[in-house]
Amino acid sequence: FGPTRVAATLEGSKAFSKDFMARHNIPTAKYVEVHSYEEAVEALVHFTYPVVVKADGLAAGKGVVICEDEQMAKDTLKEMMVDGSLGSAGNTIVLEEFLTGFECSLLCFVDGDTIVPMVSAKDHKQVYDGNKGPNTGGMGTVSPNPFLPDMDEVLKRDILDPFMEGLKKDNMDYRGVVFIGLMIENEQAKVLEFNVRFGDPETQSILLRLDSDLFDIMYAVSTKTLKDVEVKWKEEHVACLVLASAGYPGSYEKGKVITGLDAVEDVIV
Ligand code: AMP
Ligand code: GLY
Repeated sequence: FGPTRVAATLEGSKAFSKDFMARHNIPTAKYVEVHSYEEAVEALVHFTYPVVVKADGLAAGKGVVICEDEQMAKDTLKEMMVDGSLGSAGNTIVLEEFLTGFECSLLCFVDGDTIVPMVSAKDHKQVYDGNKGPNTGGMGTVSPNPFLPDMDEVLKRDILDPFMEGLKKDNMDYRGVVFIGLMIENEQAKVLEFNVRFGDPETQSILLRLDSDLFDIMYAVSTKTLKDVEVKWKEEHVACLVLASAGYPGSYEKGKVITGLDAVEDVIV
């Protein structure tokens, strides 16, 4: 259960993932891939501000910076491409058009032939209350995503069907979970990113709503029989809240003992 090495590159390389979307007509933000600071600065003329600067490689949530103006974009590009702040993850950069709308995490089971979306979720990425502060891996989630209108058919036609076609055309044997990060506006969806796994903390909200046996689904995914399994969900609303040690997402104190868990009622820790 899990993608092959090649399919995992959909998460591991932003450039690979954008190229996959472009080739298979999956809606996404306009972008340019660059390999040096000079090339990046030249490419900036094709964008308006804010512009999104994305390190190609994995960067533990620190690889995407939304730059308000040209100076900030140049500073960010210099840090990543010249000073090497993210190591080799920043050797290649994707410059991307800034999208407006609301975000939605759409996780799906996929066995290579069949794709079954899970219930929707919304991730709250910024560290402080009121959506302030730097982005984190996620400070909490709610499921269902309260902003998502009824647009299952649109998501199937625009995103899921071309994604499955793309896997087939590229001979990717993908059996596992694909996490599609979407930006939605006016009932149109664009893909921000693919992750090749369950999301954290999306999963904490989503799996509490699963009304089928997760083992049966995972077994069906791994044996390419997902179409024969019924994936049922509860009509419940779930919220997940992350408590983090002070300092997160920067460096933070570790090894603290958590107390008081016995007194917790009506929630799952
Ligand atoms: P990513 O890892 O590509 O999903 O980017 C991390 C976060 O940056 C996303 O969840 C969004 O909050 C934000 N982001 C990424 N790309 C864009 C974009 N093109 N327009 C607006 N926000 C973006
Ligand atoms: N919550 C976002 C992620 O798991 O990547």
